[in-house]
Amino acid sequence: EKGGFDHFMLKEIHEQPKAITDTYRGRLLRQEAIVKMAGIEDNMKKFLNADRIIIVACGTSWHAGLVAEYIFEDLARVPVEVEYASEFRYRNPIITEKDVLIAISQSGETADTLAAIKLAKSKGAFVFGVCNVVGSSIARETHAGAYTHAGPEIGVASTKAFTTQITVLTLIALRLARAKGTISSSDFRNHLLELEMIPKKVEESLKSDAHIQKISEIYKDVNNFLYLGRGYNFPVALEGALKLKEISYIHAEGYPAAEMKHGPIALIDENMPIVVIATKKGHYEKVVSNIQEIKSRKGKIIGIVTQGDIQVKELADHVIEVPETLESLSPLLTTIPLQLLSYHIAVMLGKNVDQPRNLAKSVTVE
Ligand code: F6R
Repeated sequence: EKGGFDHFMLKEIHEQPKAITDTYRGRLLRQEAIVKMAGIEDNMKKFLNADRIIIVACGTSWHAGLVAEYIFEDLARVPVEVEYASEFRYRNPIITEKDVLIAISQSGETADTLAAIKLAKSKGAFVFGVCNVVGSSIARETHAGAYTHAGPEIGVASTKAFTTQITVLTLIALRLARAKGTISSSDFRNHLLELEMIPKKVEESLKSDAHIQKISEIYKDVNNFLYLGRGYNFPVALEGALKLKEISYIHAEGYPAAEMKHGPIALIDENMPIVVIATKKGHYEKVVSNIQEIKSRKGKIIGIVTQGDIQVKELADHVIEVPETLESLSPLLTTIPLQLLSYHIAVMLGKNVDQPRNLAKSVTVE
């Protein structure tokens, strides 16, 4: 049932090319140059009239929401707020009939997310779900939605659910951008083309596995990790840190790279590994200068870079390459090595990667 893999998590990491393809199949029609999603088409007016989009979710799904914030604002020019479902529901939020709320949940059963949906509905907002489990409570409670087609995710640490959530949210952003006229037709086509190529590029990213295993061996015994990224890759830094802490029990924090000097830089010494997402485009030069700041404090750099990178390679202790893509799609690739890094470290430490202590696959308690 693990398809020849040692763990469900590893199997699910490797399933991502297929999961992403399954998720855009029938929706991304490159020849016709359209994005087609029934849940969006049927409710286009609601989306176009929305003053803003509020995204609610927990954990990894919240990280997918953060990536979506960048892409919605960038492409569709609609204001987006991303909220932890638990904070949103308990703080008397301002919600009106002109709000669209998108709830993201792999399981479709997360109690706080479900409660946030009910609250938004009671205030008259239109609620759209992005779930993986068909017929789940959240899928039923929302007015409309779009499923991710990741297939069953068994490992407690979310992997393919995350990348397929980003895929669906990207398609929605593209569809809205087209409807609003905030994207040119050539840019739109280019996004479709690049998104269609992502599964192949994920496949390629997975080939770094043996290299990542060697890096994991070097750092598996440290007590702390820092993950840094900017822009689209800031949420990926958060997700990388979450993945590491939940399955290896090593303390890890994700930060926007520029925030480093406002505190976390004090932690850096020769024992601190820092994973820096430093792909081309997306503030590359700024990230390079962050790396220089870390090196001058003797921190160990693991850079996630674009194939053929030269600058970071010279500075970093290790680099892991991912293929080049659009900046807006880069999280779909930069996430892959971080999943593998946490997986290998956890396995080397003898942890139960598929069922980490204290965690449940669906959190039905508040
Ligand atoms: C992390 C993880 C959790 C879930 C969170 C939300 O790997 O699995 O953080 O992402 O509990 O779960 P869903 O998406 O089912 O609402």
